[in-house]
Amino acid sequence: MVPARITTDRFVLRRFNRRDVDSLAEAVRASIPELSRWLPWAHPGYRREDAASFVRESNQAWREGRAYDFTIRDPRDPGRHLGNASIWHTSRIARSGEIGYWVRSDETSRGIATEVTAALIDVAFDTMGLHKVVLRIAVGNRASERIAEKLGFHRDGVLREELLIGGRWVDHTLYSLLAHEWRVVHPSTTDPVG
Ligand SMILES: CC(C)(COP(=O)(O)OP(=O)(O)OC[C@H]1O[C@@H](n2cnc3c(N)ncnc32)[C@H](O)[C@@H]1OP(=O)(O)O)[C@@H](O)C(=O)NCCC(=O)NCCS
Repeated sequence: MVPARITTDRFVLRRFNRRDVDSLAEAVRASIPELSRWLPWAHPGYRREDAASFVRESNQAWREGRAYDFTIRDPRDPGRHLGNASIWHTSRIARSGEIGYWVRSDETSRGIATEVTAALIDVAFDTMGLHKVVLRIAVGNRASERIAEKLGFHRDGVLREELLIGGRWVDHTLYSLLAHEWRVVHPSTTDPVG
C-alpha cells in the first residue's frame, strides 16, 4: 500500500486533507506565472474553490487506488505548502506509472523536486511493484528536464502536441526509468539480503 506519509532527508510528503486547502491555494497563487507556463490547470483566476476541489478529487482518487498526490512540507514550517508530488498508474498490465510535480516559485532551485521525486521512485518500485516510471516534460522546460537527467531517466522521444497549455498544443518529451536501472544506484530496502 502506498504510504500516506513519506519522509526524505529534508521534507515530509503526506496525503492532502481538508485543512490543506488554504495553504495549497496560497502556494499556487504565489506561483502562477511559472506554473501556468507548463501546467494546464494553472491560470491567473485560480481560487480557493479550485484548491478545495483538487483536495476532494485527490482523496477520491487515493481511495480508489488511481492516483496518489502528496503535499510537500518542511517539518520546521509545516503550515506552508512547498509544492505537489504525485504518482499514478498508467497501465496496471504493463506495471507502469507516471510522476508529476511542481514547487512554489520562491523555493525553486533548492533540490526539492529532485529529492521528493527520488522518494516517489522508491515507492513506485518497492511498494507499488512497478516496472517503469515515466515523466512527460514540456519541450523547453529546462528545470524539469534537469530533474529527469539528475535522476538518471532515459530520454525516449517526443510526444507531439501532448497537452493544451494556455490555448497552445505543446510537445512533450517522454522520459522513462526502469526498476533495474534505478536499483543499480539505489538498492531496494525491501529486497532480501544476499
Ligand atoms: C520544474 C520544477 C518542479 C523544479 O523544481 P525545483 O525544486 O526547483 O527542482 P530542483 O531544484 O530539484 O532541480 C531544478 C534544476 O533545474 C535548474 N533550473 C532551474 N531553473 C532553470 C531554468 N530556468 N533553466 C535551466 N535550468 C534551471 C536548477 O539549477 C536545477 O539544476 P541543478 O541542480 O543542476 O542546478 C519547478 O521549477 C516548477 O514547479 N516549475 C513549474 C511547474 C513545472 O514545470 N512542473 C513540472 C512539469 S513536468
